[in-house]
Amino acid sequence: MTTRTRILTGITTTGTPHLGNYAGAIRPAILASQDANADSFYFLADYHALIKCDDPQRIQRSRMEIAATWLAGGLDVNRVTFYRQSDIPEIPELTWLLTCVAAKGLLNRAHAYKASVDKNVEAGEDPDAGISMGLYSYPVLMAADILMFNAHKVPVGRDQIQHVEMARDIGQRFNHLFGNGKEFFTMPEALIEESVATLPGLDGRKMSKSYDNTIPLFTSAKDMKDAISRIVTDSRAPGEAKDPDNSHLFTLYQAFASKAQEEEFRADLLQGLGWGEAKNRLFQLLDGQLGEARERYHQLMSRPSDMEDLLLIGAKKARAVAAPFLAELREAVGLRSFVNQAAAPVAAKKKTAKAARFVSFREDDGSFRFRLLAADGEQLLLSRNFADGKAAGAVTKQLQSGDALDVRTEALAFSVWLDGAVVADSAEFADEASRDAAIEALRVALTPLED
Ligand code: TRP
Repeated sequence: MTTRTRILTGITTTGTPHLGNYAGAIRPAILASQDANADSFYFLADYHALIKCDDPQRIQRSRMEIAATWLAGGLDVNRVTFYRQSDIPEIPELTWLLTCVAAKGLLNRAHAYKASVDKNVEAGEDPDAGISMGLYSYPVLMAADILMFNAHKVPVGRDQIQHVEMARDIGQRFNHLFGNGKEFFTMPEALIEESVATLPGLDGRKMSKSYDNTIPLFTSAKDMKDAISRIVTDSRAPGEAKDPDNSHLFTLYQAFASKAQEEEFRADLLQGLGWGEAKNRLFQLLDGQLGEARERYHQLMSRPSDMEDLLLIGAKKARAVAAPFLAELREAVGLRSFVNQAAAPVAAKKKTAKAARFVSFREDDGSFRFRLLAADGEQLLLSRNFADGKAAGAVTKQLQSGDALDVRTEALAFSVWLDGAVVADSAEFADEASRDAAIEALRVALTPLED
């Protein structure tokens, strides 16, 4: 049995990965996947991408670029399950099951949705202007991503913590409603890598596409060099001491340097290394670390069918987990085959049969009788009087033999016959339906006890 920690994360496929994505998410995730205890599920969240982007070209390009980036970065697809969300039809199916238990009020509180509403209100627009159901239900889709594979740990940025909490919430509710004591879904935990640096961008603010301050990762050495040349520095001239701790150029260097390289760079800056030379050193460092991966990246991008194959294998692995689990969940909510439906009453029958019991007693006149009691103590049958215990015992034994029960109705009562003689009579029932129900309960109780 596996006791490995299942780590799952998705990457929304709307952009081209930059250096900040690499240091902040991709590199740590690839490293984490190399741990022998890790069972990693990494996927391209391309359904999520559709929420934010209606440009098919861009969606397609980004999916390929992100896949190539992870593979070029050293992700070992034999070790991890690497797939496209949209190759797993079980995910939208689970999304619907979860949508049906997710409280609308919970989703009303999602940060991303609320931010859009606030913006609309501020602009004097209808609160829901331009807000799609996709944006609104975004957390449910994400919950399906996570719960489908029973992830323990979900590495995400801070902005996604709320979504992981919602996944717990929704999963818990499903467990409660349909689990019957069984926990279908593992409760996931957001994993925030404190030690991973958020890289500063060219202007010193967090590196982000929305600030247009990114350093490209694998496009070309020239692109990287050009971006580095635009890193904002203070105006200290060559020869003047620089302050490494207040330089985001130094922070960028640090994120890729060994301890020794870092110390050397720090010392040189303190001794007046010029910014131009410092940028050159940063480029050399990054190019040395990423140059080979860049080549692999371009190779992968030039052979899309190789990537397609790898991702389809990943989808197959993921579906081998998802499909049987979803079948169980469908069963739990009542989406069952008509044919298998018989299984439910049979199971109930067994339970009753196991729990029903005969109780014999003596009347004041010395005769012997017995009752058949259901699991809940309800009397299913009361026998006639027998002259001795042996005769009564023989009858109870025969009733349990599994032979077809001879029940004869008479108006609103019934009697049970054995070998041409009445052995028990019922009382009068209020109507035929309750009489027949009692007969059915009796038959069920007398079904042979063995498994
Ligand atoms: N919403 C995440 C993001 O924008 C991407 C994502 C989709 C995800 N599904 C997920 C992350 C499941 C973790 C787990 O970053």
